Amino acid sequence: MPNRVSCGALRAADEGAEVELCGWVNRRRDHGGLIFVDLRDTDGITQIVFDPQHPSFAQAEHLRNEDVLRAVGSVRRRPSGTENPRLATGEIEVAIGTLEILNRSQVPPFQVNSEEPVDENLRLEYRYLDLRRPRMQRNIRTRHQIVKAMRDFFDSRGFLEIETPMMIKSTPEGARDYLVPSRLYPRHFYALPQSPQLLKQILMISGFGKYMQIARCMRDEDQRADRLVEFVQLDVELSFCTQDDVLEVMESCMRYVWLTVLGVEVPPFPRLTHQEAIAKYGVDKPDLRFGLELADVSQSFAGTEFAVFRSAIESGGAIVALRYPGGAALSRREFDALTETAKQFGGKGMVWIALGSDGTKSSAARFLSETQIAAVRDALAAETGDALLLFADAAAVAYAVAGKMRNEVGDRCNLRDPNVYAFAWVTGFPYLEIDEATGEPAPAHHPFTAPAPGDWELIDRDPTAMRAQHYDMVLNGYELGSGSIRIHKAQEQRKIFEMLKLTPEQVEERFGFFVRALEYGAPPHGGMALGIDRIVMIACGEANLREVTAFPKNSVARDVMMDAPSPVPEQLVKDLHLRLAPEVRSPG
Ligand code: AMO
Repeated sequence: MPNRVSCGALRAADEGAEVELCGWVNRRRDHGGLIFVDLRDTDGITQIVFDPQHPSFAQAEHLRNEDVLRAVGSVRRRPSGTENPRLATGEIEVAIGTLEILNRSQVPPFQVNSEEPVDENLRLEYRYLDLRRPRMQRNIRTRHQIVKAMRDFFDSRGFLEIETPMMIKSTPEGARDYLVPSRLYPRHFYALPQSPQLLKQILMISGFGKYMQIARCMRDEDQRADRLVEFVQLDVELSFCTQDDVLEVMESCMRYVWLTVLGVEVPPFPRLTHQEAIAKYGVDKPDLRFGLELADVSQSFAGTEFAVFRSAIESGGAIVALRYPGGAALSRREFDALTETAKQFGGKGMVWIALGSDGTKSSAARFLSETQIAAVRDALAAETGDALLLFADAAAVAYAVAGKMRNEVGDRCNLRDPNVYAFAWVTGFPYLEIDEATGEPAPAHHPFTAPAPGDWELIDRDPTAMRAQHYDMVLNGYELGSGSIRIHKAQEQRKIFEMLKLTPEQVEERFGFFVRALEYGAPPHGGMALGIDRIVMIACGEANLREVTAFPKNSVARDVMMDAPSPVPEQLVKDLHLRLAPEVRSPG
């Protein structure tokens, strides 16, 4: 009986063995009377050979890419000079005796055996073919390894994985809910979880002090490269913990994952306060693979005649400066384009100063003194050959634009090496931030987050000055995860809802079950959730979450393979007590 082996298994030492291989035709070549087929499975590729003397030769003549085969033959060394060092099995080939064609394939709409770029919608429509390609096979395998390492880590620390339901009552995470209409309860809806937040807190109240879950989350929001409508979190919660306990366990988990899956030893994560992150990098998820710290140079322009700077200073704003290494070589036209980029990032404009070896040039040359230029240059530790970029605006806007431009300069100067992993913690967030959609203050994290110790007293006086026991893990400019120490006392939870202008009736209707649970001996607790899709994306060196998800929706939230969302039979709609509105245009 031949031995059944995978397509990645055979080596020179297996010479002479009788083997059976199953897989797909990756490529077929006719050569000097012989037919060569690269047979592929999830493990690798093996070259199989058909000889005209053999009856299987006639079958092999009609093979096409992606046909599925079972082939039996004997392993032999490839003739000297024809080995393929790029293949693990490249020293051998298998001379086929019997061939069984298990299934035929249509001609694929794109080449499975090459890494050539293909339109994303076509890839997603034929995802089963796309997933056969080496890049996706690699990414999905890495995803499995990362999730397994996470489970192993938390198991070793005594955490229980507990599944929470998919049909629940809405829990706010700042996005719109996906709703499931109820057949049994007319006009009532389940919500799909935006996260298991309230359920994991209730598990703490239930006495399960160490919880983790690989949790599916659904949020009806616009998709972006780093945001999916359906994604997966590593969700964690602990009882009787401090913020440091949560940071320790999450950091240890990520260092374990990086070591076991990528073989990379990550140093302890630096910690920044939210304030430091904004002051130095302009964003709350700084890319620490490179320096280029920002500087507030407003002081150097006190009394300036330059209207743009003067009005920013007089209205209490700031002038924030950024160094562009080697930027003095840019042409005026290139600086103009860079200024446009700053405008797209929300800025009013940009002043540039080029420190050329043949002298200094600037978009605002007439208004800047040598002393002022020297002060900016010193603040940024800039050198001849660099450019200085200045952004004057309301402080929050100036920092935000400078922060985005810092990443832009990082890209242009190749400072964002995908093989470097710069993890960090950002702590001490403000409790409230202005919600972009409503213009109203809303929790920067969620309303179950505890204020910083000592900040409760601000709640009536100056709630916008409150800080939260909220922390983020960041990696290479991405937010990997967020968490917080939670409120565990019912009266304090009510107080936060009151600050957020919820009436007692609204609190009862939306969160009554939860506030009641807090009244039955809720322990102090805290936790965090990390975005697994984002972690895998960065670990795989990809720039889009869809590259590490087996069946993602496309960029406009459609499943183009299954064709979802789709209309359903009228009777089903009626059973759910729904009536459909007249047709409106869909996004894509
Ligand atoms: P938060 O909403 O910050 O916190 O989510 C935590 C992490 O989940 C990932 N994430 C996403 N990934 C892909 N697509 C999305 N649309 C998406 N939204 C979020 C991110 C993010 O940092 N319940 C709290 C956690 C807690 O407090 O314990 C929560 O869900 O990586």
